[in-house]
Amino acid sequence: MAGYKRDTASCPNVINKPTVISMVGLPARGKTYMSKKLTRYLNWIGIRTKAFNVGEYRRAATDKYRNHDFFRQDNAEAQAIRQKCALMAIDDACNFLQNGGEVAVVDATNTTRERRKLLFDIIHVKYKFKLFFIESICDDPTIVEANVLEVKVCSPDYTGMNKDEAVQDFMRRIEHYNSMYETLDHQIDKELSYIQIFNQGERFMVHKLAGHLQSRVVYYLMNIHVLPRTIYLTRHGESQMNLEGKIGGDSDLSPRGEEYAIALGEYVEKEKIQNLKVWTSELKRTKATARHVKAPLENWKALNEIDAGICEGMTYEEIQEKYPKEFALRDQDKFHYRYPGGESYQDLVARLEPVIMELERQENVLVVCHQAVARCLLAYFQDKSSEDLAYLKVPLHTVIKLTPVAYGCRVEFVSLNIEAVNTHREKPKNVKTDRSIDEALETVPDHI
Ligand code: F6P
Repeated sequence: MAGYKRDTASCPNVINKPTVISMVGLPARGKTYMSKKLTRYLNWIGIRTKAFNVGEYRRAATDKYRNHDFFRQDNAEAQAIRQKCALMAIDDACNFLQNGGEVAVVDATNTTRERRKLLFDIIHVKYKFKLFFIESICDDPTIVEANVLEVKVCSPDYTGMNKDEAVQDFMRRIEHYNSMYETLDHQIDKELSYIQIFNQGERFMVHKLAGHLQSRVVYYLMNIHVLPRTIYLTRHGESQMNLEGKIGGDSDLSPRGEEYAIALGEYVEKEKIQNLKVWTSELKRTKATARHVKAPLENWKALNEIDAGICEGMTYEEIQEKYPKEFALRDQDKFHYRYPGGESYQDLVARLEPVIMELERQENVLVVCHQAVARCLLAYFQDKSSEDLAYLKVPLHTVIKLTPVAYGCRVEFVSLNIEAVNTHREKPKNVKTDRSIDEALETVPDHI
């Protein structure tokens, strides 16, 4: 993720030492999927994390890939290139950790004990960083084939090759790795910290966990799944306080908000979603919005809107009038700014972490929440930086469909075509505390 910057205050005491997480496993075992997903999660909770994919280093270093022969154990020239690329990735990972990074994920096969010793010697012995292995073991051919078909045949290695040939070639590539594969073993690899994941989460083996970060990573990995599903995210229908331009509170829906509640019920009915669950906040406007949806419902306090503290119930104009300095400070750093007596976006991310964890465990869920809360959830699924998070556009009367695809998430905005006020205030140009009233109010939306 470009320009990622976030301090760890939302995640205190998790990192006492930089950590390298190293993937282990044959090709097509979901290592890149896990690396990317874990990296996105750790960044979202405020831990500076970056993934280093050795395959990308190899493609940048050479165009010598013609077919699976490149991965034969007796191909000395290719072996040298592969070794060099692995070392480059490890080196970059360590540089990242020396320059403020907290977790580096080395996404490679690392299938031999010799390669893992190299990792250990550089990362742990030389740099004194922690090292944690995630091994993905999969002996179910249908899972492997599905993975090859879904992502591997689209790899740049196979540009211009037909699909069947690409599948055949990839399967041969796996065989070359398999001939040398040494799985982690609790007797031989006594000193190492690792988790083994069997058949995409059917079973787990955890060995020598060292510290809070590792247990958090294990907890996350044990909760995610790869079943197809969709998460539907929406704000409540337009509220009476939205009409008045007031923030926070616990008001009822406006007449147009009521229309949205009905339209949402109809939309969900038409989508014919299997085993849908509905989650709302504990505030009246989300409960009212969800009441026409026919599905089991749960109220989560964690989904309540950001607490604006002393500014609750005010319009942006009133905040500028009463607390002009606070208003400017929020514009200077909206993600970290905490309303006096209230919350920051950073606090909100920490509050929403259990919601994300539970969402990962679930299948189809409709989440009915609020502007700031929806921004935080969307940022997780879209891998947005903290700077972007607080300004994500989440219009009223719109359903956001989030569907996992290959290594990411497809995001669709579906407007239910019922008018509503705009509540999105862009960052103004002048964020200094001595700005004029007009400059402070430049981007306040009209409440009509
Ligand atoms: O205006 C609606 C609202 O949900 C408020 O209750 C909340 O304080 C605000 O949006 C959050 O948006 P922002 O952080 O942009 O002020």
